[in-house]
Amino acid sequence: MRVAVQLAPIEETLLVPLWARAVEAGRHDAIVRDPRAAAIRGRLDYDFTPLEGARASQVGCCVRARLIDDWVRTFLAAHRSCTVVELGCGLNGRFERVDDGRVRWIDLDLPGAIALRRRFFDDTARCTMLPASVLDSAWMDQVAATQTGPLLFVTEGLLPYLQGDQVQALFGRLADRFPGAGLIFDTMTPLVLRYQRHHDAMRHFDAPFTFGVANDAAVAALEPRLVLEQTTRFHDLLAAHATRLPPLLRWIGVGLGRRLPSIRRAYSIHRARVGSRPPTEGDRYALEGS
Ligand SMILES: C[S@@+](CC[C@H](N)C(=O)[O-])C[C@H]1O[C@@H](n2cnc3c(N)ncnc32)[C@H](O)[C@@H]1O
Repeated sequence: MRVAVQLAPIEETLLVPLWARAVEAGRHDAIVRDPRAAAIRGRLDYDFTPLEGARASQVGCCVRARLIDDWVRTFLAAHRSCTVVELGCGLNGRFERVDDGRVRWIDLDLPGAIALRRRFFDDTARCTMLPASVLDSAWMDQVAATQTGPLLFVTEGLLPYLQGDQVQALFGRLADRFPGAGLIFDTMTPLVLRYQRHHDAMRHFDAPFTFGVANDAAVAALEPRLVLEQTTRFHDLLAAHATRLPPLLRWIGVGLGRRLPSIRRAYSIHRARVGSRPPTEGDRYALEGS
């Protein structure tokens, strides 16, 4: 039976990365392998045709998911027992992709998104769903009650829909409640916000990007206790798969990005830690390229 999609505009954005991973599942050279995404897309009563031309977003969502999968796997490998909380999880099947048989996992999203997610995923002993807004703090009590071992918070494609003060408040509350936790998140510069009406996928949605941050120093300054450990430019991830982009996009996105730092740095993915103290000189910060 087809599953009706009843989502608020901001929740509806979860269909873009789902669609991207579903399309990818049909490729022999898939960047990220997620057959579950294809099965879900096939059951949704939703018209995905406006997304068919969004080739940069299709590849882009997959390179981003692959990088974050790899970072999460690294975290799991470093900790025998740990907890991962995926904030704004949408219909992402990351737990199934990276599960090491031990991790405790929590998938959090807004109530409408979790209601849809429950049509396809069940709570299990190690993986449970939590309907909540990241802007509230009651969910943190549930995370604290569930937590075993070190914590990693993952946000993918969530922060751009928040306001700057909301991101700061979220980071501050994470640092207060969970000092030492890992945090993976993505940020855009105001340049992306300025040109978002040309975005190949998001122009079909009624949920604008609202959070932009000018550079890495400003990212680090969002929360004094944030320690950036690694930053990867989305441009560089995309450039590694440039042959999959249409010629014009290859030129604008990848070619121009090689010449113009403002384009190359327009969208970044960060691996960080929320410390119990402000970072010092000794804290590691690796920029992959600059
Ligand atoms: C672009 S989608 C990304 C979904 C998922 N991370 C993925 O990559 O497949 C953004 C997600 O953030 C969620 N979201 C937006 N605002 C939120 C909030 N205040 N609290 C929790 N989730 C939120 C949306 O419901 C949606 O699932």
